[in-house]
Amino acid sequence: MTILVTGAAGFIGSNFVLDWFDQSKEDVISLDLLTYAGNLENLSPLNNNPHHHFIQGSIGDRNLVSEFLKKYQVRAIINFAAESHVDRSILKSEDFIGTNIVGTYNLLESARSYWNDLKKNLKQDFRFVHISSDEVYGSLNSSDQPSNENDPYKPNNPYSASKAAGNHLVRAWFQTYKLPVFIVNSTNNYGPYQFPEKLIPLCILNALNDKSLPIYGDGQQIRDWLYVKDHCSAIREILNRGQVGETYNVGGSNEKTNLEVVEALCDILDELKSKLNGKSYRDQITFIKDRSGHDKRYAIDASKLKSELNWKPKETFETGLSKTVFWYLENETWMNHIASGEYQHWIQKQYS
Ligand code: NAD
Ligand code: DAU
Repeated sequence: MTILVTGAAGFIGSNFVLDWFDQSKEDVISLDLLTYAGNLENLSPLNNNPHHHFIQGSIGDRNLVSEFLKKYQVRAIINFAAESHVDRSILKSEDFIGTNIVGTYNLLESARSYWNDLKKNLKQDFRFVHISSDEVYGSLNSSDQPSNENDPYKPNNPYSASKAAGNHLVRAWFQTYKLPVFIVNSTNNYGPYQFPEKLIPLCILNALNDKSLPIYGDGQQIRDWLYVKDHCSAIREILNRGQVGETYNVGGSNEKTNLEVVEALCDILDELKSKLNGKSYRDQITFIKDRSGHDKRYAIDASKLKSELNWKPKETFETGLSKTVFWYLENETWMNHIASGEYQHWIQKQYS
């Protein structure tokens, strides 16, 4: 048997696949469209692994997905594939609707048809794990309790609205067709292989290149930060032992303002790679125009996951951030490829 991981060349998907092989010998099919955010270099540690198979394609391509579900006897789909960046969704929302809503719908239909065939052959063991976001619950005030699984959805930007719509489809496919699904709503992830459009890798890259560290508005917006490998371990627990049809919220219990996050990473850089002029990286912090419709605070109540599946994160924000900064410093080639756009050429070479 095999698992199918979609969006596997992206940030969380690639971490999930790499971690999978540390825990299991089961084969993985990685499906990824290789949009601007997909980077095969993230999966290069698996280049000679016969248990890993990469397919370039879209979750919306039902023929392709159906063919591979059958061919590899897939027992679970973990769906990471998405357009993931809020700022891009504000500039142009079309791909967000196309992948996060219509793509999810097509993937659900491919899965349903495959699962129906499995049932005919009395093989019912199948799971569909849909990876989503705390952003679906909308913005919290400072006095609000963290969002739990029963809270209503109130998305405020095109990205979060598209993720909320995708979640509704997944839930409906369980209620109507009994497709065995899970929905996983997680907080902000950080760690290795994150595309440097997101706050933490962008600031590491800019800091090292003597550029400004852009903070939107007053930097007082709050996010809860989760080390990516802790997210991956939560997903594995949910896949193995979760209750079918349920939503699980995953968070790191690390609420920080954006300014605190950027200051903390400057301090780590000051220690690990101090500037020749003796100044602090904090001097590069620059406040710029706010994101439109910028949500004030997200926070997740992850107690269900803790009480039902005994999951808790391994990393604190301090240990996770240090590991992350260290990884980017150690992986200069990866950083340089992304920064120079070389990895796009590298991808084209793979497929020419
Ligand atoms: P990412 O942008 O780094 O990666 C997304 C991957 O999906 C890319 O490799 C891209 O090529 C691929 N992709 C896009 N459209 C596709 C399609 N139609 N078919 C197949 N592949 C396609 O994103 P990420 O940060 O790794 O996020 C993964 C998932 O987790 C997303 O669903 C996102 O909404 C969710 N999520 C992310 C975070 C976070 O902090 N990064 C937090 C909570 C939830
Ligand atoms: O909360 C989960 C979400 O976290 C995921 O669903 C999304 O896929 C993921 O991209 C992330 O969304 P955010 O918008 O929170 O992530 P981002 O790194 O873009 O921004 C984090 C915070 O930092 C946010 O409040 C905006 C702010 N920010 C971001 C950038 C890129 C800045 O102040 N400056 C910046 O340059």
